[in-house]
Amino acid sequence: MEILIRDTLKASAQMAARVVLKIIHSEEKTVLGLATGGTPLRMYQELIRMKQTGELSFKNCTTFNLDEYAGLLPEDERSYHYYMMSNFFDHVDIDRKHVHLPDGNTENLRDACRKYEQQIKNAGGIDLQVLGIGANGHIGFNEPTGSFASRTWVKILSEQTIQDNSVYFEKQEEVPRHVVTMGIATIMESRHCLLLANGAKKADAIRKMIEGPISASCPASILQMHPRVTVVLDEEAAYLLTFKDHYKWVEKNKLDWQSY
Ligand code: PGA
Repeated sequence: MEILIRDTLKASAQMAARVVLKIIHSEEKTVLGLATGGTPLRMYQELIRMKQTGELSFKNCTTFNLDEYAGLLPEDERSYHYYMMSNFFDHVDIDRKHVHLPDGNTENLRDACRKYEQQIKNAGGIDLQVLGIGANGHIGFNEPTGSFASRTWVKILSEQTIQDNSVYFEKQEEVPRHVVTMGIATIMESRHCLLLANGAKKADAIRKMIEGPISASCPASILQMHPRVTVVLDEEAAYLLTFKDHYKWVEKNKLDWQSY
């Protein structure tokens, strides 16, 4: 894993955006996997800024989001559809025909999940998958002890995630218990993963993900088996890492073409 540690939230968001920029510039057409939540918000703001200054265009991008709540309408402000439109897609030049989010609001969720997997395949797979991490080590909405072989499917949120995400809802009881999420195997097939984490609340999950044993108890730890993962952290999220100095040393000694 490539571990990049930055002093501030702003610097880590800028770093993450540069990873996205590099991949978009290196491919004729790019398939991006995107994430929601509090963590990537600043990265989206930075990408919007890059679009405004003409550094970057999303015209040749196709996107697939990681997950969505079941039972919320796309226009519901708490849905990830709404989040993506208002925080990103409404501000960039992406063709809406190329935007995909899991459909959490259909009669037949299982068919919708199978169709989503097929759409990712038809697009040629994901070039860069942006990920956050839950305080319990989840990626997407793949909660601890779920299968590493899982595909896009309907999942049940853990009580901890319901509690963590209740800040976006008026009452904890309003947080949907069911979600649709890309599976761990879906995520592992993407060609490059970019995982972002900020704040001391994520430090334990980050330590387990990078330096702990590979275990379904920390779903993100499977990324140790992925050939290309970039992790962008602020100092707080990195504070429990045993090999923090080594990661900084490695970054300092990168070859030019390895930088973003
Ligand atoms: P957060 O969520 O960015 O809101 O902390 C991350 C996640 O649960 O994957």
